[in-house]
Amino acid sequence: MLLPAQIIQKKRDGKALTEEEIRFFINGFTSGELPEYQMSALAMAICFQGMNFDETMWLTRAMVESGKIVEWKGRAGTFYADKHSTGGIGDKVSLILAPLVAACGVKVPMISGRGLGPTGGTLDKLESISGFNVNLSLDDFKRITDRVGCCMIGQTAEIAPADKKFYALRDVTATVSCLPLIVASIMSKKLAENVDGLVLDVKWGSGAFMRTRETSADLAKALVEVGKRYGKKVCALQTDMNQPLGRRIGNALEVRECIEIMNGSTQADDLLEVTLALSAEMLLMAGAAKNVAAAREILQKKLANGEALHKFAEMIAVQGGDAKVCDDWKRLPSTKQAKPIPAPKTGFVQSIECDQIGYAVIVLGGGRRVAADKVDFAVGFEEPKKIGDAVKAGEPLMIMHYNDETRAAEATRMVRDAYRIEDKEVNTRLPLIVQKIE
Ligand code: URA
Repeated sequence: MLLPAQIIQKKRDGKALTEEEIRFFINGFTSGELPEYQMSALAMAICFQGMNFDETMWLTRAMVESGKIVEWKGRAGTFYADKHSTGGIGDKVSLILAPLVAACGVKVPMISGRGLGPTGGTLDKLESISGFNVNLSLDDFKRITDRVGCCMIGQTAEIAPADKKFYALRDVTATVSCLPLIVASIMSKKLAENVDGLVLDVKWGSGAFMRTRETSADLAKALVEVGKRYGKKVCALQTDMNQPLGRRIGNALEVRECIEIMNGSTQADDLLEVTLALSAEMLLMAGAAKNVAAAREILQKKLANGEALHKFAEMIAVQGGDAKVCDDWKRLPSTKQAKPIPAPKTGFVQSIECDQIGYAVIVLGGGRRVAADKVDFAVGFEEPKKIGDAVKAGEPLMIMHYNDETRAAEATRMVRDAYRIEDKEVNTRLPLIVQKIE
């Protein structure tokens, strides 16, 4: 008979666990037979001792098999693909990518998350659109994906329930930042979604879980390897998260930016670039383009002719939301007030503590301090100064949208402290897309 304390002790002492031991823990925890304190102890032991690749695979498999695996109706000849980001500040790529890739004929079923730590969540952004329902049944998710081409929902009780429960526990036991646990968490959801192709956006930097290029590359390699062992087409792009992506940060503001990119009224170069790069990989996997250049041409066309925006509107409507926002972003929630945050000194932006910008959005009310918090969708920031930009003392570092003066004062302090401004010009820029891992 397996004793939980002995398994914890084995991992605590740096030994590798067997598939049976891992499955025993995951099944017991999911069913409620094993208490949270034992699962927490094992998670912490894994954080300190790590897991080898086989253990990571077994953990992923046990979590996938804790729930249902989606069966797709339109399988024959249809390619289902998803994109997953490890999370960042101003990362709104999914909102453009899903309708854009769907407009190219690839089915994009997306199970997304809420804000996590300083990073924003796709579900919170979508819910800033009046009426948008992210809590659909698995049957509706499948039906809408097959009919419209894309659908975006939250994790259901049927998909990888072990991860749902384990993630909530990790969140409050300081066991989120741990490579094998992150790999199993992300991949269990994506493998249960049962897509043919998966593109991963693995971020690195001051606004990402992985602070260094090296740790983020290790994460990308492990995610890709697990996907491959499952027979999926999978690749990862390692991308920069040392500064906010795009020109707006905060739920409704980010939806507005996506609409503006899809209607051609703005060209946020870094956001559009990451979106096109990830979308192109999805088209390549689906066989919808011969090479990256051809894929980008198709994607640019779908943006320019309005098909991507039209697909976004179609998805919003079928998920109960106010699709008219696509013609008029002013229908999105807005704040009572907006004001610039003045730069404390003259010089060039050397670096940004990007996570602090994410936390400042939470302070304004745009994210949750505790799980039960109600989100103020309207608050956030726009037009942030980026690394290398010249700035004069008193000029705006960014524009703050807010509803509460006390919160605004705290957020202002955080943003000013997050910027390091010095006299010297910045000659070397960090690459936006570091490398492709496949
Ligand atoms: N996103 C997830 O889904 N899981 C993690 O563990 C970290 C980021």
